[in-house]
Amino acid sequence: MKDFKWYTLFLIILCLNLIMVSCGRPDTSKTSGAKKLTVGFSQVGAESVWRITNTISIKKAAEEAGINLIFKDAQQKQENQITAIRSFIAQKVDFIAFSPVVDNGWDVVLMEAKDAGIPVILVDRKANVEQSLYVTLIGSDFYEEGVNACKRMAKLLNETGNIVEIQGNTGSDPAIKRKKGFQDQLVNYPNMKIVKSETGDFFRQRGKEVMAYFLKDDAKKIDAAFIHNDDMALGAIEAIDEYGLRPGKDIKIVSVDAVSQDIFNAILEGKSNVTVECSPNLGPQLFETIKKIASGEKVEKWIKTNEGIFDMENAKEKLELLKQQ
Ligand code: AHR
Repeated sequence: MKDFKWYTLFLIILCLNLIMVSCGRPDTSKTSGAKKLTVGFSQVGAESVWRITNTISIKKAAEEAGINLIFKDAQQKQENQITAIRSFIAQKVDFIAFSPVVDNGWDVVLMEAKDAGIPVILVDRKANVEQSLYVTLIGSDFYEEGVNACKRMAKLLNETGNIVEIQGNTGSDPAIKRKKGFQDQLVNYPNMKIVKSETGDFFRQRGKEVMAYFLKDDAKKIDAAFIHNDDMALGAIEAIDEYGLRPGKDIKIVSVDAVSQDIFNAILEGKSNVTVECSPNLGPQLFETIKKIASGEKVEKWIKTNEGIFDMENAKEKLELLKQQ
């Protein structure tokens, strides 16, 4: 009985000691290099296969990098992105990353992030703000995509023909720069011109509607279509089929993204001609960059992604790769 009392007393003292030691221990998760970073990410929405693939890439890479990700889908609305960024600031996240739905209108909220000392990273799309309001942009050269699309179009049309354009969402970085790149290159081909241009908002169904409207208006005038993403191109292909013309033959098609299996199947069937790549797999680069910045490393102002161009010659190879992913 006496032994039992001593033993119980010993256990109580041991437990009290353990509690005191653990209470006094500094929170290493906040002070050591192994601190778990919290990143708020505001995504544009889910308008295309590109965007869905981009979201998957970001979520997967955050998990692999041990990042605590707060992800918000803005459903194509700038006001939702601004609300999300403000909520990230209120939550005192370590970094804010976002893909701006449109170019303009970010100055105030990004100044709020700057005042709160939270670094901002632009992903995929640039915002039209002064350089001190973000650390870096990780994404493609949309202007170059437009230039390459026009060069390929010139080959397909033997440098002569009427082109219709279906643009991405109005005011967005890719829509503005793809259009500009294509137009600037067009001056080299005096017998090629854009006869009609409308937005399809990067949605497949809208691409179909816009192409149907172009065809109804004057189908005979259309030799080709420059379409700002593959989803809208796939919609346009449906519209051309339904109209009774042959997509890829009667109307040549050049689009952008090179992400979905569907566009490669269309190219292999001869229903589309070229897709200029724009990589959505930006997650790993985003979190590598965040870790570099967190450890005090300097990073480039624009971390550009490398991209290819696909047509009948190399579509099969890329399709096989996509099937394995
Ligand atoms: O910002 C990238 C563009 O956004 C992609 O080309 C398009 O498919 C997406 O929705």
